[in-house]
Amino acid sequence: MPLEKKEQLEQIRVDIEKNNVCPDLAKTAKHLVFGYGNVDAEILIIGEAPGKKEDETGMPFVGASGRLLDEMLSSISLNREDVYITNIVKYRPPNNRDPLQSEKDQFLPYLKQQITTLAPLLVITLGRHSMQCFLPNAIIGEAHGLLFRVKQENILPLYHPAAGIYNRTLRETMKKDFEKIPEILALIRKEK
Ligand code: URA
Repeated sequence: MPLEKKEQLEQIRVDIEKNNVCPDLAKTAKHLVFGYGNVDAEILIIGEAPGKKEDETGMPFVGASGRLLDEMLSSISLNREDVYITNIVKYRPPNNRDPLQSEKDQFLPYLKQQITTLAPLLVITLGRHSMQCFLPNAIIGEAHGLLFRVKQENILPLYHPAAGIYNRTLRETMKKDFEKIPEILALIRKEK
């Protein structure tokens, strides 16, 4: 019998530790932040890397960015239990520096396994780091809010919530992008 999704995800998590992915980050991190949410959700949200709060708790998006993400989700009547959330890099980079290309490359095969296991209808990337895993040449200022088909996946790049914290004028744009999600999902469901 095939493994249940939760068991498959647990196996991926164990493999990350067993295969010693990004040992330098693992050394300084308190937790591996693997992902959280509804394994049967239609939407998979992919962020960049854990910050301080995420490192302390082992949960993705529990700090300031997470609060803004929750706000955006609730503006379209969704909450954490309606989505699954993970990051490309699963250990906190020291001092919240940007993840290195080599770190993203090392985690990418595990992210791909998570996507195959979860089989979401829509993958939402937050910010340029996760977007560029799928659309290496895309520019977030141009690609945000547009649906892309990459191989089998439906990819919707959105601004990272941190961008809306540092630049409040972006929030209206972010909200409008989030408001596109229900109709994008309806379109994908129809095509299935
Ligand atoms: N920013 C991210 O990209 N991911 C988190 O989990 C938290 C903040």
